[in-house]
Amino acid sequence: MDDNKFYVSYNSVHKLVKKLSKELMESGYDPDVIVAIGSGGYIPARIIKTFINRPIYAVGISYYGIDKKHKDHPTKKIQWIDEVQSQLVGKKVLLIDEVDDTRATLAYCIGELLKYKPEEIAVLVLHNKNKEKDVEFPVEIKRYFAGLNLDDVWIKYPWDADDIESHTEKKENLMLDQLKKKKARSYTNE
Ligand code: G4P
Ligand code: MG
Repeated sequence: MDDNKFYVSYNSVHKLVKKLSKELMESGYDPDVIVAIGSGGYIPARIIKTFINRPIYAVGISYYGIDKKHKDHPTKKIQWIDEVQSQLVGKKVLLIDEVDDTRATLAYCIGELLKYKPEEIAVLVLHNKNKEKDVEFPVEIKRYFAGLNLDDVWIKYPWDADDIESHTEKKENLMLDQLKKKKARSYTNE
């Protein structure tokens, strides 16, 4: 069993999004639009629409230059809001991605979206990794929602799985392993 990987099932994504949408509403932030960062943010954004029904716009970021070499930071827009950018002026935006890792993608998107003069941008992610970030959020970001805070592990999302049955099984086995370890610890504490 690979302990350095954190397996996530579709069900747990759904439950995490439900929990996050409740936190969002309780915070008093009522977004006008959802902006999903592709591709990891697409499925969480669609699920949150079940709980807060707002229009979804999608943006995509590329890490590869024209020379096909991988860059350290996102620079090239492969898909952007263009003709609907006027939709963001004076609006409350909810920016969604699956993971806050180095923060490079999120910060880049926020920088671009701020050019459209929204009233506010709130950030929502399924998972945040507790680690030193490459970049910080700009001061305009006042609200940040993370479903789960994790160590710097590699997260295995269900949409990346080749075989969804064995993916879900691995998640369940890992959970059982953790439960067993917890039990073992509590016995030794007695
Ligand atoms: P951040 O701003 O959200 O922190 O993202 P960062 O630039 O650090 O991430 C670069 C890419 O690596 C992103 O994918 C991000 O989703 C992906 N990534 C980072 N950590 C993990 C992880 O633990 N598990 C998985 N599965 N992916 C991770 P991307 O290039 O935007 O592609 P996409 O997969 O979203 O399409
Ligand atoms: Mg992503």
